[in-house]
This record gives sequence, structure tokens and C-alpha cells, in this order.
Amino acid sequence: MQVQSNLVQQAAVAAPLSGAAMRLGILPMPSLAWTPEVERETAHLYEKVKRVIPPVEWPFHAPYVKAINDLKRERNAVILAHNYQTPEIYNCVADVVGDSLQLARLAGASDADIIIQGGVHFMAETSKLLNPNKTILIPDSKAGCSLAESITGADVRALRKQYPGVPVVAYVNTSAEVKAEVDICCTSSNAVKVVESLGVDRVIFLPDRYLAQNVAAQTKVKIIAWTGACEVHERFTAQEISEYRANDPDLKIIAHPECPREVVEVSDFAGSTAAMIDYVKSQAPKRVLLVTECSMADNVATEAPHVEFVRPCNLCPHMKRITLPKILDSLVYLRDEVTIDPALAARARLSVQRMIDLG
Ligand code: 13P
Ligand code: SF4
Repeated sequence: MQVQSNLVQQAAVAAPLSGAAMRLGILPMPSLAWTPEVERETAHLYEKVKRVIPPVEWPFHAPYVKAINDLKRERNAVILAHNYQTPEIYNCVADVVGDSLQLARLAGASDADIIIQGGVHFMAETSKLLNPNKTILIPDSKAGCSLAESITGADVRALRKQYPGVPVVAYVNTSAEVKAEVDICCTSSNAVKVVESLGVDRVIFLPDRYLAQNVAAQTKVKIIAWTGACEVHERFTAQEISEYRANDPDLKIIAHPECPREVVEVSDFAGSTAAMIDYVKSQAPKRVLLVTECSMADNVATEAPHVEFVRPCNLCPHMKRITLPKILDSLVYLRDEVTIDPALAARARLSVQRMIDLG
């Protein structure tokens, strides 16, 4: 492990320095040995994840966990982690965890100098929009999103020409370039409220066609939808979910609203990732099926010890690009730094801020 990390450091040093690294300097790579001290100092964190991380794996995670937590203090950095991050990130190094709305709100409230986004690129951009003077890092800038990649700013301008005067609502799973072209943002937890706040009889809703269908089912406002989809949630089918129900009538089925409408219709509840977690914690069902990304069940399991999780999950390859070794690299080398053209950022910030101001 030590040899491998030295090789990684040599390669990393050879890479060009980020602007943040030139301003603040890089740090020496800490030791990543599994020692009695590391074991002792991380024992309370292993207690949190022992239900989902086998003991044989902990000596590989623990040296990173200790090094990351030490360097966060040295750098005055915080880690914002989405609910889809792996359990060792979610439970052992994150300062703040949540759904997209919670992370956007908390990014704005942080007094750290550096924010490390445990999540995908659009989330890091949202943090930058709300913290223009802070250093925002994403441990792997290739962590994208099929929804964010389904639409461009030029597409939004074309939609406005096609539907003159119709306001545009953008799911936060969009690039800053798209946010700069729209009227207001929303997340899966406030989409209906945002749509109805505009006081009009129709809106353009982008980019997720399934979230659009699920919102349309809850409001009288006519929804004109874009055609994007989440590559993780669109794979679930109503047939497979109904089969689980038929085999286990007591099973509670909870879906994310990025799933197709038919999947939500055969579920007991649909909500953002935070709403799904709240449902499991407050209702404490005996057995539950979370129709969403794989890490959710692991993360809720650490907080709901008496619930049994049935696990037909789908993995988000973008979320899984974020790992402990890459988070450590971010802290040592201050990369990958997220920057947004200030003029574009000023326009994009307005649409995010309008959403936040709705409360
Ligand atoms: P929420 O956490 O806001 O429900 O979003 C889910 C998602 O897919 C984020 O990429
Ligand atoms: Fe994008 Fe879907 Fe992955 Fe979320 S789960 S980041 S919406 S691809």
C-alpha cells in the first residue's frame, strides 16, 4: 500500500498545479500505514460502518480516513457528501451529508476556506456559485451526470424561442451554463413547489423527463418536458418492482422521482434521497426496498439498524469516481479546482438563489 501511494504521489506531483495549489501550496503525502495508532484513532468511526464494511477491509480504508480528517483541519476544509457516496466517505470523512437541496443550502452556510464536493460535477459547480470566493474542489472532475450532459445552454435558448414567454425551471442536475439560461432551479424535494411558485399555467421543465412526469402528476400546471434521463433510475421497471411486491407483500417500496412514472406508481412512497432516508428512519419498516442508487441502502443501514434492506440497486458510475484516495489527493494537491466564468456565474447564481429563497 505504501509503495503504491509513493508512485501515485510521483505521478501527481508531475501533473500541472491548480490555481489553488499555486496560492496555498501542496502538502507532503501523509503516511498510509495501518498502525495501532490509526486503528485506535479510527475505532469510533469503524463502529458506525461495521454493518456494511467487513473487518478485513477496514485496514485499507482507515489510514486514508485518518489522513483526510487530519488534513481537513490543517487546510480548514469541509467535505460535503451526497447520500450516494460510499459508506466510508459518508460516515467517516464527510462533515455534511444530504440530498442536492441540503448540500446547496449548506454549501452557502459553510465558513471553511475549502469545500471538497463528495458528489458529481454539477454539485461542485452549485457550491462554487454559492461560494464564489472559496476554493471548491472535486476529487475527480470526470464525475459527470447523464442528466446534466443531456442539455446545453443553446438548447435552452432554442426552447425559449419555441415557447416564447414560458418560464424555464431547471433541475439542479444541470451545468452552470444551463442554469445561466433558466428562470429558477429546483431539486427533487421542492420541484412541485417551485413550479407552482411561478403562478403560470405552463412551464418548461428540464432536463429529466421522468421527474417532469412525476411532477406533472402532482400539479395542475402544464409541464413541457425535455428528454433527459438519469441512467441509474431509468433502468428500474414497474414489472421488476411488482415482482418484489408479489413475492413479499409486507415489503415497503420507496422510489426516487427520477424513476419512470410507472415505477413510482407501484411504490409506496417517492421522494428525494433525504426524504427516502427520513421515511425509513421515521416509519422503521421491517423490510424495505430503496429503488435508487446502491450506496443509499448502505448509508441508511448504518442509521436504521433494525430495518432489513432488499437490494436490487443500480450503481451510479459517476458518483463512484469519488474515492478516499482521490479525496486525499484533493487535500494534498488542491485539485480538481472548480472555476466558472464570473459573468456566467452571476446569471446562474440567480436561478439557484431564487430556489433557495423560496425556503
Ligand atoms: P437528490 O439527492 O436531490 O434526491 O438527488 C438525487 C440524485 O440523483 C443526485 O444526483
Ligand atoms: Fe446523475 Fe443519476 Fe448519477 Fe444522480 S444518480 S449523478 S442523476 S446519473
